[in-house]
Order: sequence, then C-alpha cells, then structure tokens
Amino acid sequence: MENHVIKAALLGAGTVGSGVYALAGMLADEICKKTGGSLEIKRVMVRDLKKKRDGIPPEILTDNWEEILNDDEIWLVIEVMGGVEPAKTYITQAVLSGKQVVSANKDLLAEHGQELLSLAEERGVDLQFEAAVAGAIPIIRPLKQSLSASLLTEIMGIVNGTTNYILTKMSEAGMSYEEALEEATKLGYAEADPTADVEGYDAARKIAIMASLAYNSTVVFSDVYTEGITKITAEDVRYAEEFGYAIKLVGIAALEGGQIGVRVHPMLIPEQHPLATVRDSFNAVFVHGEANDDAMFMGRGAGKMPTASAVMGDVIIVMRNILHDNCGWNGGVAYKHIPVKPMEETKSRFFLRLKVADRPGVLANIAGVLGNNDVSIAQVVQKPSRGGVAELVVITGAVLERHFNDALMIVKGMSAVREVSGIIRVYG
Ligand code: NAP
Ligand code: HSE
Repeated sequence: MENHVIKAALLGAGTVGSGVYALAGMLADEICKKTGGSLEIKRVMVRDLKKKRDGIPPEILTDNWEEILNDDEIWLVIEVMGGVEPAKTYITQAVLSGKQVVSANKDLLAEHGQELLSLAEERGVDLQFEAAVAGAIPIIRPLKQSLSASLLTEIMGIVNGTTNYILTKMSEAGMSYEEALEEATKLGYAEADPTADVEGYDAARKIAIMASLAYNSTVVFSDVYTEGITKITAEDVRYAEEFGYAIKLVGIAALEGGQIGVRVHPMLIPEQHPLATVRDSFNAVFVHGEANDDAMFMGRGAGKMPTASAVMGDVIIVMRNILHDNCGWNGGVAYKHIPVKPMEETKSRFFLRLKVADRPGVLANIAGVLGNNDVSIAQVVQKPSRGGVAELVVITGAVLERHFNDALMIVKGMSAVREVSGIIRVYG
C-alpha cells in the first residue's frame, strides 16, 4: 500500500465498465480527498482484445483472469461483465484470495448473493453491489443499514429502465413497442439480450435481491412470479388512460401472513400515485415499514454514467475500508427462513378486456360467471359494436388469483366470447 495507491482490476469495459473507467479518471482528486488514497485501475478485462476502447490504454487490457487473480498488487476487483458464469467463479476466487469486490451483477446476486455474502463475511472481505438494483438509486445500502430498524413490510418499485422507457414512449409519444425498444437499446438501458428486460426477468432479479435484504431471508430469482410487458398493446395503454391509470411494470415484495409475496408484472397505477409519474428510464422504489411508514427512492435506473456512479460510490467505500483496515462488514446475510407465498394465494384486482358477441344477455352471463367465482366487478365499460362484436373492459375488485383464473377459464370457453385481449393487474 505504498503511497496509499490502491490497485484495482475492472472486469468489463462495456456500457458500465467504460463509464466506471471514465468516472474514476474524473474523480481522481476527489477520491484522494475522500479516502486518503488514490485509485489505479491496473487491468481491464474484456472478451475481445481487438475492439477499440475509447480512453482505455490498450496495454492494460487483458482477456486473462489468471493475470488478475495472481497479481498480489491488485486488491480490488470491480466486476461489470454481467452473467452468472464466469463472474461467479471470478468473484469467488477473488474473495478467497482476499481481494475486495464491487459488482453490478444482478443476475449473479439474485441467484447466488447469499452464498457469496456468506463467503465474503467468512473471509473478512468487502462485497458491495449498490449498482445491481435500480442503477444510480441508493437502495441496497439503505435496505441493509438505514432501514434496518424500520420493520419493513412492503417494497414496490419500478426497477427496470428499459420497460419504463418503452411504456412511457408508447403512452406519450405514440411509439410502437418495437420503436421504443430500439431507442432504449441505443441509449444503453437494455441488457445485451433485452428479453431479460421485456419479459420481467431483470426486474425479478432486482426484487429478489431487495426482498432478501429487506426481510433477512433468502429469496432467489426463481421464487419470483414474473410477467413482462410483451403482451401490453397500445389499446391497453389507451383504455388504462381512459380509466385514469398509467401502465407500469412493477416489482413487489410484501410480507403477507407470515410469507413473502414476491412478483413482477405490469400494473395499472392510478394517475395520482407517485409511481405513475415515474417516466422514461427513471426507476423508483417505495418501501413501507411498520416503524418508518412510507419512503420513496427515485432516480436513473440504467445507463452508462448513472450506473457507473453507483459502482464508483462502492469503490470509494471499499477504498476507505481498505485504508482503515475495516473490510468485511457487508450486512445482508439472511438469518430467517420465511416461506415464499404461492402466487395463486395472492389477492389482486384485474383489468380485463374482452371481445364478445354483441347480443342481449352476454354481459349478464359474464358477470354471472365472475360473481360465481368470487370476482366482483368494480367498473365496466362497453365500447360500440363493430361487425357484431363489442369490446368489454372490466375492472374487478380484489380477488384471489386462483379464483380469478377459474373464472377466466370459464369465460374463455363461452361461445359469445371471441377473444380475451388483455389481462392486467390493477393497483389497490
Ligand atoms: P455490456 O455493455 O454487455 O458489457 C459487458 C462487458 O464485459 C464487455 O466489455 C465484455 O467484453 C465484458 N465481458 C463479458 N463477458 C466476459 C467474459 N467472459 N470475459 C471477459 N470479459 C467479458 O454490459 P453492461 O450493460 O455494461 O452491464 C454490465 C453489468 O452491469 C451487468 O451485470 C449488468 O446487469 C449491470 N448493470 C447494467 C446497467 C446498464 O444500464 N447497462 C445498469 C445496472 C447494472 P467485450 O467488450 O470484449 O465484449
Ligand atoms: N437493463 C436494465 C434496465 C439495466 O433497463 O433497467 C439496469 O439494471
């Protein structure tokens, strides 16, 4: 630690990695003042050594992990490659060899976060991952520290920038789903394979990480009931607006009857609710606790510099810990075993859009089926008939998912029902 220079390796120089490298340069003086040491990114690991990397000297590039692992001068590994493997192996080996770790990798942390945190704790090594959830928004450290006495009972958030951008552009700019996705990809919000964004997997990973930290119980990606936005149409957006709602992809993790209900799906949010006003690539996370009441965190959830800012925030904390011999307290290791609630036992309200034969008695029959299955109708609108087919838009009261599904199966089988065009859950 001569001259207090801390040498680091950056794994990945894509959207986030290039931002981290640039920001580390911009912050050089600040880092010295904040930590008492300076940061040298000694190695940058990439897959393709031939690709041009703006601002990164070619001589520090490598595609060889062993060079980094076996370099005793490198005390800090900043992992912004993504994916479960080889990132898991690299982080495990880094921790085992006593190197501190900062990561933005939600894919890895949503599946193996608890295992890695336990290992880091055992080895007295820092493992920080603020950027893994909601980009630039500080939410990991608040969940582990500031909110740890809040008796949290609910987290509800818009935690995927790509889908929020798409839904905003479909609603406000009349863009098609495909146009908006192309824009989000160009802006660096989308994952390398945007399926993870649009199918809700990215949000599911983030809500799994937050649920584990909030409730001190392990929740993994596969525990999360997940629906994406690929079935949302311009008509759904228009009808939702007519009813006074915006459609958002939300992640929810709530303590319900001694279980953790954890899910990601599109939702109609009342226009006056603060989450309805979260636009473009912005993210927001609402938390409710019995002690703290409500709190909301909002900011940029994706993109090069916002995400790099969260990574560098962690780097500064780890540097300070290294220089003050204070590494190894990460928090967040689960010490409870709270079961995950089956989705069919969850209660929701629904927006249901149907195309039906325009003849007397059809609405009454549908209402009868819904009523017989415990589904109450809160609002219903019938649109003018075209070619003998009318459109019905129904908003239900709160109902158990399994009762709604039973009703839906019968409705789908009715001869008067031509199409079930949209099913979206409704807030409240
Ligand atoms: P990206 O643009 O695809 O960049 C990935 C980088 O990692 C590339 O430089 C790539 O090398 C390198 N890489 C990937 N696999 C590698 C391997 N096996 N060996 C060596 N290098 C490898 O990804 P990104 O958007 O920056 O995301 C990075 C991480 O941050 C992911 O975990 C992501 O989920 C997370 N994150 C991203 C955002 C965002 O807004 N983009 C926000 C929050 C968190 P090549 O350049 O040679 O291909
Ligand atoms: N693809 C992610 C998003 C990046 O759109 O939110 C941030 O994790």
